[in-house]
Order: sequence, then C-alpha cells, then structure tokens
Amino acid sequence: MLTKKYSYGKQCIDQSDIDAVVEVLKSDWMTQGPTVTKFENELCKKFNTKYATVVSNGTASLHLIAMGLGWKTGDIIITSPITFVASSNCALYVGATPDFVDIDPVSYTIDINLLEDKIQKYRKNGKNIKAVVGVDFAGHPCEWESLRYLADKYDFQLVNDNCHALGAEYDGNFDYAAKYADAVNFSFHPVKHITTGEGGAVLTNNLELNDKVKLLRTHGITKDKSLLEKNDGPWYYEMHNLGYNYRITDFQCALGITQLKKLDYFVKKRRDIAKYYNERFENVKQFITPKVSKYARHAYHIYPLQVHFEMISLNRNEYFSKLKENGINCQVHYIPVHLQPYYKKNYGFKVGDYPNAESFYSKEVSIPIYPSLEEEDLESITDLLIKSLF
Ligand SMILES: Cc1ncc(COP(=O)(O)O)c(C=O)c1O
Repeated sequence: MLTKKYSYGKQCIDQSDIDAVVEVLKSDWMTQGPTVTKFENELCKKFNTKYATVVSNGTASLHLIAMGLGWKTGDIIITSPITFVASSNCALYVGATPDFVDIDPVSYTIDINLLEDKIQKYRKNGKNIKAVVGVDFAGHPCEWESLRYLADKYDFQLVNDNCHALGAEYDGNFDYAAKYADAVNFSFHPVKHITTGEGGAVLTNNLELNDKVKLLRTHGITKDKSLLEKNDGPWYYEMHNLGYNYRITDFQCALGITQLKKLDYFVKKRRDIAKYYNERFENVKQFITPKVSKYARHAYHIYPLQVHFEMISLNRNEYFSKLKENGINCQVHYIPVHLQPYYKKNYGFKVGDYPNAESFYSKEVSIPIYPSLEEEDLESITDLLIKSLF
C-alpha cells in the first residue's frame, strides 16, 4: 500500500492563483467584467489567434462552434470514437448526424486514409460531409496538414477539439491549432493542463464566427448600436438569435490568467513524467507505452498506457481494483463513443465498427500524470503498476 493516494489527473493551484481570484472577488465585477476580456486577450496572445471567446465549459464551446458554423439537420459531422462524448454530442445538439472514422493505431487520432475513404463513399452516394472534429487525443496532435488538405479538397469545415493538447506542437508550431482548423475548442476542467474550475474557450481567426459565438454565449442578445433595429434608450437590448447562458465568471478568468502563465512549466513537467514512464516501462513486455509521430510534440494531458491483459492472470477490472486498494485510482480514456447505448440505439453503431478504437479501449489504462508528481511519487507509482501485474 502506498503512503500517498494518486489519481490519473489533478489540478495544480498555488498562492498566485488564490491571490488573483481573491482580488477579483473583492472587486466590483463577479461576472461579465474586465477579467473575462483580459483572459480572452491573453489566450489570443499565447496561441497566436485573432479571437477568443471564453465560456462556461468545453462542451458549451463545442455547442457554440456547431451553431456558429451553421451545422443543421442532415449535416454529417465526423470525429474519432476515442474521445469524450462531447466531441460528437455537439453535432446532436444542432440536429446534425454524427459519424466516426477509426483511429490511427500509433497516434490514436483520426486515421487520415480511412477519413478520405469515408468521404469518397459519401460522395458516391451524392453526399458531402459538413465538418470534421479532429481530437488531439491525450495531447497528441492529429495530422493537421493532411486534414487541412482534405478540408480544402472536399470542402468541409475543420474543428480542432484541442482540450487535451494545450502546449502540444505540430511541426514545431505551438500555435498550430487555429492555423489549420476553422475553430478550436479548449476545456479548463481541473484535470486539463490549465483550469478555471469549469470553463472553456473558442479560438478562431474568423471574425464572423467569433461574433456569432460571442452573441450566442449570452442568449443571442446584443446591445451593439450598429446592430439594433431601433434604440429605446441606454437600457435597450435586442435578442437576434436563440442563444444560451454559457458565460464564465470574472473570478474564474482570474484563475485562468494565472494558470496560463504556468502552462509552459506544466507541460514541461508532464513531458518529464512521460519520459520517466517511457524509460521505466521500456522492458515491461505487458505494457505498450504511447508513441509520438515525427511531426508531433506531445503535451500529455493523459498518459494512455496499454496493458496486454491476455499475458497476465488479471482482467482490467481486477487490475484496477488492485491498484485502487493500494493507492492509485486510474481511469480509462475512452469507452468508444459509437458503443454508448445512445449512439447504438439512435444511430445504429455496433461492436466491430471501429476495430482499432475497440482494441485500444480493451487495453487502455490512464495512469497518474500531473505537474505536482515528483520523482519519488513516480518511483512508487511505477513499482506498484509493475508489481500489480503479478
Ligand atoms: C476531448 C474533449 N472534448 C470536450 C470536452 C468537454 O469539456 P468540458 O468538460 O469542459 O465540458 C472534454 C472534457 O473532458 C474533452 O476531453
């Protein structure tokens, strides 16, 4: 039994975060104040994008992207099955039809060749897809240059669900996400690279999309004089679209700003931890460690270890229980979305549809990775992970 308890992910909050939140709590603005815009500006600077809109969570940002890009009933939206359900649920919110393309067995991101095959099949039947949501799973970027090429060739929209990959690099670029995709989605949930408690953001270089997202974030209401049909006075506003209350508070954004300052440090720590795991597990034949494609620099939101359960006498459930009893609470990322009862029942997906995703799921175990883990923690964690195989 370990002396400390570990989970697969955890926030990292220090005094500078606490001070920044307290300062805003003592100010005049709890919500819709200047810290929201300040956080948006900091995100634009850090990720080299023209526009950012911060919202209440990363699911809300995907919903606003879907609305902002004009998805509607009958549109086909493709993503990969190894992701959180939000990546495809955003299609359902606007009445569009979700579909999947299997993962590449090395990067665990959408397989480009299978994507092109699927697009061609649709086109043979007289249909075109509306959008692809590429998921930079675990922190490993998709093949974005190829995705952009396909998006231009077949005329579809490209979204980067970048929730796992803040700080990742594509071909040496830290700011690749909005360079290749029409819209980028972030989540600031506590297990992510940086946190605001709950929170999310839409990043884009497209002014029209940004304007739509900002309007829909707050009920589709505008006070912009240039847009009003009439103007009864200083209190006056008009609702032009059906939007939502997807706002985030100022004190959450204060936390976002101080967290963002530490992003580079957080990512470095995560890479160091991944390096330790890779080296320690190199000769453990029961484990498959995550690989990194040549074009990518991984940001390790998750460390997706795979275990050859057929080589050991335990199944995953038993292995999980053994680890939990001794102090490590692992997780599995993810149950393939197409196998969720809702997707099977309503869209006809079934076991066997995406073999790479299903095989990955059967072996995956997400082990602890977060910045406050020190070498002695890693030693105990890796010892227990190996010892528990037997
Ligand atoms: C890939 C991905 N997309 C979207 C989301 C949704 O983000 P949130 O939990 O902030 O709504 C998550 C959250 O886990 C995620 O991992």
